[in-house]
Amino acid sequence: MPNMTDDKQMTAPQITRSQSLVMGNWKMNGSISFNNQLLNEIVAGVVSVSAANMTAQLVVCVPAPYLAQAQGRLAETPVQWGAQDVSVHAKGAYTGEVSASMLTDFGCCWVLVGHSERRTLHAESDELVAQKAQAALSAGLTPVVCVGESLQERDAGLAEAVIKRQLAPVLALGPDAVKRMVVAYEPVWAIGTGRTASAQQAQDIHAVIRRLLPSSDHTPVLYGGSVKPDNAKTLFAMPDIDGGLIGGASLVATDFLAIASQ
Ligand code: 13P
Repeated sequence: MPNMTDDKQMTAPQITRSQSLVMGNWKMNGSISFNNQLLNEIVAGVVSVSAANMTAQLVVCVPAPYLAQAQGRLAETPVQWGAQDVSVHAKGAYTGEVSASMLTDFGCCWVLVGHSERRTLHAESDELVAQKAQAALSAGLTPVVCVGESLQERDAGLAEAVIKRQLAPVLALGPDAVKRMVVAYEPVWAIGTGRTASAQQAQDIHAVIRRLLPSSDHTPVLYGGSVKPDNAKTLFAMPDIDGGLIGGASLVATDFLAIASQ
């Protein structure tokens, strides 16, 4: 569970870095029967692994239609669940959108915002992503703000500048808001490609992000992009990497559990 501290303006809790966080992003994968098996295997694994080996908080971010299924299976277990996107609007004529309060109706505590697939395929701007983060916070959800440069941007030496640009409107929400968020650094060139950033490449950008954040105790920064059981340990050992956002490997219970046990 995120550590909660009291706040009168926003209901989302402050998130500390004291516990590592391993989040699965299922993307648009799954079915009732597939999810059932995957969730059963994850829960069985978490329960059977000794507390010493599983110190991370596990979260699965499932497609919106399966939130009720996740809630039904994961309530009363140590595994939490979240969504992959949220509307900036509270309600109304926004066909296809899902509001933050709808997510909390299904027991969600977490929501991804600004995943590179949404920035690219749905033209989400940095400002819109910040508005989504704010909408999540206002409903008591923890937004996981995803940032990351493309290969072209990295090759042009623009990685840091891109991250700073993407984060600027989010940081402008103010330190109190930022302490209630998670940031996920996902270099676009490492997503689903099997080409992970080296631990040092990731650490370098994480250090840049960390310096922009208002507190060294809050706002965990996760790494995402081809995290697998065999590279998770080195990545998570870096001082500014507080856990992972896992795509493909989160669809295989043994891999997800192995990553979370690093
Ligand atoms: P992969 O782990 O499949 O590279 O995906 C990373 C990601 O996009 C998680 O949000």
